[in-house]
Parts: sequence; C-alpha cells; structure tokens
Amino acid sequence: MREWEELKKECLHCRACSLAETRTNVVFGVGAPDAEVLFIGEAPGANEDMQGEPFVGRAGKLLDDMLAMIGLDRSRIYITNSVKCRPPQNRDPLNTEKDACHGYLVRQLQLMQPKIIVCLGRISAMEIIKPDFKITQEHGQFFERDGIQMTALYHPAALLRDPHKKPETFEDLKRLQAKIREICTHTELIFT
Ligand code: URA
Repeated sequence: MREWEELKKECLHCRACSLAETRTNVVFGVGAPDAEVLFIGEAPGANEDMQGEPFVGRAGKLLDDMLAMIGLDRSRIYITNSVKCRPPQNRDPLNTEKDACHGYLVRQLQLMQPKIIVCLGRISAMEIIKPDFKITQEHGQFFERDGIQMTALYHPAALLRDPHKKPETFEDLKRLQAKIREICTHTELIFT
C-alpha cells in the first residue's frame, strides 16, 4: 500500500512530457488497488481532467452502466488509463506521451498483480495485448500472458457513437463475468 501511495504521488507530480503543461489534474485511477480486475482506458478527457478521476463524463456513465449489467462497480475493481494526462482537444495520445507514461502503468500492474485486464478500446489493447490488435475482430476474446487473462471491449465512447455495437458488447461482458467467476478468488468482493 505504501508503494502504491508513493507511485501515485510520483505520478501526480510527473512532468515527463508536455501534457504536464496543459493538464488540470493527473488522473491516476480509481477503485481498489488490490482488485483482481483492472480496466484500462485510453486517456482522460475534459471532465476527467477537471475532476482527476477516470471515466466521469458521458462515456463514463455508460461504463458504469456496463459494469452494473454484470454486477460490477467501480469501487470494487480498478480503472485507469494508458496515458494519465489529458491530450489537448482530446487528440490521440502521441507515441512520445505513451512512452513517457508507460512506466506508471507497468508499475501499477506490478503492484496490483491483477488476474484479469480489460482494455477499453483499440489504443490500450494495442499497448497491453498486442501492437496489431484489431478491435472489430478481436474484442471479447481472451489472451493469456504471464498468467494474466487479457481482453478488450469496445470503448464506451465508440458505443455512444455506434449503438449497434452494444449487443456484441453485452455478449463480451457476459464472457467477462464468466471469466471472473472462473478465475478470481474473491468474487464476493468483486460482485455487488
Ligand atoms: N476515455 C478514456 O479512455 N478514459 C477516460 O478516463 C475517459 C474517457
């Protein structure tokens, strides 16, 4: 826990890339740092930058609804982003920014040792699962690496833009729920 707080403090003061000039808040993450399930989004947007918490805008409301559908709640899992500071005008994070931030995610993973990682959208799936990840073809599939089960869902913002993708995502969520039941040891702490 002390190491987690130290990492968080370091991250909140980070000036490793130019996003430090334009951010309001660093968005380190939310939830239970000892959770067995970790969700990873792309980067904070305007609302997240203002509040210092991931997924608090419209996409975040949809994410909360998606979690609730399978008995999850943000306080019982952990949610973070690949990049911890908001890129101006919500542009895609640059490779230099992703590289500057990658170490924080790696250390979060080392300390948390999650059993399941859920990438939200293509950008984090390409960083975490594999560089050539194809979200339209591979969402909902599980990939195992170093004993961690990894999957990706469509990003909630993509579901807001294209609601036709919602039924497929519901199937992916049910598969995720089954995987949590199968491999997590403290499901009574995970499901509400
Ligand atoms: N989109 C993301 O990927 N992360 C957030 O925190 C908010 C929107």
